[in-house]
Amino acid sequence: MNAQSIPPLGADAPVILEMSHISKSFGAVTALVDVSIRLRRGEVLALVGDNGAGKSTLIKILSGFHQPDTGTIASKGRQVRFASPRDARAHGIETVYQDLALIGDLPIYHNMFLGREYHKRFLGLNLLDNRKMRELAQTYLGTLGISIPNVNSTVDLLSGGQRQCIAVARSIYSSPSILVLDEPLAALGVRESAHVLGLIQNLRRQRNVSVILIVHNYNQIFEVCDRINFLHAGEIVLDASTSETSEEELIRIVKSGLGRRAVDAQPA
Ligand SMILES: Nc1ncnc2c1ncn2[C@@H]1O[C@H](COP(=O)(O)OP(=O)(O)OP(=O)(O)O)[C@@H](O)[C@H]1O
Ligand SMILES: [Mg+2]
Repeated sequence: MNAQSIPPLGADAPVILEMSHISKSFGAVTALVDVSIRLRRGEVLALVGDNGAGKSTLIKILSGFHQPDTGTIASKGRQVRFASPRDARAHGIETVYQDLALIGDLPIYHNMFLGREYHKRFLGLNLLDNRKMRELAQTYLGTLGISIPNVNSTVDLLSGGQRQCIAVARSIYSSPSILVLDEPLAALGVRESAHVLGLIQNLRRQRNVSVILIVHNYNQIFEVCDRINFLHAGEIVLDASTSETSEEELIRIVKSGLGRRAVDAQPA
């Protein structure tokens, strides 16, 4: 993976998502306070912050899982309301949650097509087209460079890293315009992390899909992300492109607990 080979995001890349002034409380717990984020086409945005900072809550609002108490979401310039994950998906927003949502006792190929299975007619019956799904899964995973010996294996026989690759591959397969990954690298070994990062880097190179990546390892952020939003106690305290900040500065901000509101050099 070579960051140098990725051309910078074009200045004319349109803003495809804006979440503005989002606040959310759960009873007495304030999870988010007046949070605004902006995402451009083809951009890879890192969402970072301590445990409990509000990262998952923010992306669950984006994916229609939670409703915000205040604030708005605009997708491709038009205001939207996502009453359910299905609504968000219909707008091209695919999310891989921290707990993956794969079904352990189903084969890999079936997991790849969960909720959008291929069918065939046979003797007047509507049956699952397992052969087609098997072949498509094998080919598609091969295209992404994911080596799975047998797509007939059930998911619970896979390692954590392999599962993560399947979950990410499944999301990419549906051609989303926005891919949200909540800690895709948690619990992965060096090799598996490199593979998932490679998948993200490929998307970034093509600049068709925008990615929001929740990640804890700052080193990895600078490898694959264009911009960083740092959440602290429910507020965004840093918004900077990776080219204008450094790992050292990020660590300094985290340690100081102060943060700064960086002016993003990129035009709106
Ligand atoms: N469904 C819920 N009900 C009540 N409180 C919640 C709920 N979801 C999140 N919270 C609270 O909101 C705050 C933000 O949680 P969130 O899961 O968004 O954090 P996070 O930044 O994703 O943390 P982590 O890095 O540990 O995944 C926390 O204080 C959490 O306890
Ligand atoms: Mg979380």
